[in-house]
Amino acid sequence: MILVAQVSDTHFDLGARNTERVERVMRFLTGLRHRPDAILLTGDITDSGKAEQYSDARAAFHTDIPVHAIPGNHDDRANFRTAFLGLPASDEPFNQVHRIGRSTVVLLDSSVPGEAAGRLSDETYAWLRDTLDDAAADGPILLALHHPPAHLFSPVVDEISLVDPGPLAALVAGDERIVGILTGHAHTSAATTFAGRPLLVGPSTASVLGAEWELDLPHHVMDYAPDPAIALHVIDENHRLTTHFRSVPMGGRVGVQPN
Ligand SMILES: [Fe+2]
Ligand SMILES: [Fe+2]
Repeated sequence: MILVAQVSDTHFDLGARNTERVERVMRFLTGLRHRPDAILLTGDITDSGKAEQYSDARAAFHTDIPVHAIPGNHDDRANFRTAFLGLPASDEPFNQVHRIGRSTVVLLDSSVPGEAAGRLSDETYAWLRDTLDDAAADGPILLALHHPPAHLFSPVVDEISLVDPGPLAALVAGDERIVGILTGHAHTSAATTFAGRPLLVGPSTASVLGAEWELDLPHHVMDYAPDPAIALHVIDENHRLTTHFRSVPMGGRVGVQPN
């Protein structure tokens, strides 16, 4: 089996609060008896894309566990590459593929510079087709992107979700190796389906955004009281995907006690 931790919407903003919440989450993950094989950051690493915010994020995510990240709408592609990843500057979409055991994890950059909603560019679709062609024929595939491609009954996020998800749905429906799609952006833990596969929305470590049965817009938008939360995804030897959503207490015991 492989175990992939998803940490999303950390919104590093140069304040202590959001940094401390990620530090607590990282202590939880690195202290697990079975540590994750990889940590996926599904966007909105920073609150406003500043280089100093990425420096804070880079320090908080420093670990010997592989960390793979994609930008969200609050990120800045150029600073994301240079200040967070130490790569040359570029405004091109940041798409990546990683092999984890027998599984392939494909991370798609759905951010659109200057916009809150997401879109996959023609260039990203071409890259995705080539990547799927090259992936192991018998290995499971996880897709990850920031913007959910489905309706989530979230009045705020449904207005700024993935635009024109049809081509992605066709690709997913036509590839039986794809076992699930992971997103962030919604600041809530949610599960639905997309093109017949599980669509799992990882929570934010920074805040919780209520759904339509809870929100009283514009008075009540974000809830900052809950503890930070993450998702833990397992792919077993039968290629079945199982997900646990886990809050990490800021005040209480963290991690697994020996015996
Ligand atoms: Fe966010
Ligand atoms: Fe977002």
